[in-house]
Amino acid sequence: AKILWNDQIVSEQEVKIGYEDRGYQFGDGIYEVIKIYNGDVFTATEHIDRLYASADKIQLVIPYTKDVLHKMIHELIETNEVQNGQIYLQVTRGTTPRQHNFPIPAVESVLTAYTKETTRPLDQLENGVKACFVEDIRWLRCDIKSLNLLGNVLAKQEAISKDCYEAILHRGETITEGSSSNMYGIKDGVLYTHPVSNLILNGITRHVILDCCKEVGLPVVEEAFTKQQALEMDEFIMSSTNAEVMPVISINGQAIGNAKRGEWTEKIQQAFEKKIP
Ligand code: PDD
Repeated sequence: AKILWNDQIVSEQEVKIGYEDRGYQFGDGIYEVIKIYNGDVFTATEHIDRLYASADKIQLVIPYTKDVLHKMIHELIETNEVQNGQIYLQVTRGTTPRQHNFPIPAVESVLTAYTKETTRPLDQLENGVKACFVEDIRWLRCDIKSLNLLGNVLAKQEAISKDCYEAILHRGETITEGSSSNMYGIKDGVLYTHPVSNLILNGITRHVILDCCKEVGLPVVEEAFTKQQALEMDEFIMSSTNAEVMPVISINGQAIGNAKRGEWTEKIQQAFEKKIP
């Protein structure tokens, strides 16, 4: 498969990344994961907008317009003939002799993007997954989709080591989000989720889900809830570009509701399904 390297589509062997790339040395860069359904990119505009927003927040200049980036992504998908899968795209602050502060003089950022064929997690979408609480030890700018993912990596690994699919992160008693997903609880016909702030990534799937809630008549309250409240929810959901609308059926080994995909969850999934190309 071909790779998008800066503004060129090249073979894997042609890509050269410097060992002093700031993404490699500092995690100094940003990224997006975008889903491809039936040859079409899903919510591409939202993902590209968020990429540029992340870039702004760390004063990184992407040397292409959004339009050009959209075109390059489409060209990559067509070249690789991807039907169902994803695009991973990252931009780093470029390659210079190692020093913490930004390069002087400034250098061009380094963009790489590649596609991957994937299948939807249909079995888990129907039967749900297990999750566990992990302390949220990340920094205070979780709104930036940064390449610095060590806090997320450690949290996910802890979940996996406990035979769970995802870590539910909490700062003190308050649930923030997942290690690579957003979290929601449904109680007495109301959906609760952490408000958009510096403590969570403003998920694109989160946005789609809140639209779905409107469509199915499920009221939404964007308010944080506690670990204890999480355990007492009737239904629990996590979401991401890859996991879509994923039922969480147990937390720390404790059943949520009747430990099955709930009725509201199924309705949201159906509304979500109608939106994918
Ligand atoms: N992760 N929160 C975090 C910390 C994330 O890393 C992600 C996505 C989300 C969900 O965002 P979205 O719905 O826009 O995918 C929330 C991506 C998929 C990843 O790192 O692979």
